[in-house]
Amino acid sequence: NFEEHNSILNQFIAELRATDIQKDSMRFRRNIERVGEILSYEISKTLDFKSKNVKTPLGDKKVSVLQDELVLCSILRAGFPLHQGLLNYFDNAENAFVSAYRHHPNDNDDFEVIVNYLASPTLNNKVLLLADPMLATGKTLENVLKSFKDHGTPKQIHIISVIGSTEGINYIEKVFPEDTHLWIATIDDQLNSRGYIVPGLGDAGDLCYG
Ligand code: PRP
Repeated sequence: NFEEHNSILNQFIAELRATDIQKDSMRFRRNIERVGEILSYEISKTLDFKSKNVKTPLGDKKVSVLQDELVLCSILRAGFPLHQGLLNYFDNAENAFVSAYRHHPNDNDDFEVIVNYLASPTLNNKVLLLADPMLATGKTLENVLKSFKDHGTPKQIHIISVIGSTEGINYIEKVFPEDTHLWIATIDDQLNSRGYIVPGLGDAGDLCYG
């Protein structure tokens, strides 16, 4: 939970939550992207690097460069600006896109998550980064993971989110492989009867894209 420590990240989260600031959808998208950039830097500290020699105009220097092969994945729609934040730093990564939406089959609060689009390179021995700003019940991420089953086995999975619920985080720990890392900018305790995070920030997809 990064919010426990003072950093500029908290300013971006505060702006994302505030209804008056949310009206500026460009700022909303950019703040999600900025959270993605900050979390990229934090994630990078856990990845594998290798050393190599580079030539500078004045000599040689042994430097450290990223060794892991990354696949960045947007969970549409709201994952898209978060994905862009990751891509701003991990600019050599491959990319995947998955659609997911909540379908209410009856006219009540019960829902199932439908995944009906997936484009992805093979994941074998790569590090998969899943970007979705909201982790509410965890059902979206669970179904997204299932949809990847024919695309190989990643070496490691990282889940990147802006707000997570305690319930959703516990659920992810149950249904994802052991070597899965959660990078959640801030945690809210409650879900309402419709499975939305309270106080949260509202519907991230609508706030990004109308
Ligand atoms: C929202 C959010 C997550 C999901 C989280 O997406 O962006 O993807 O719900 O909920 P869960 O953890 O309970 O599954 P939504 O389905 O509203 O789609 P959108 O991004 O297109 O708005």
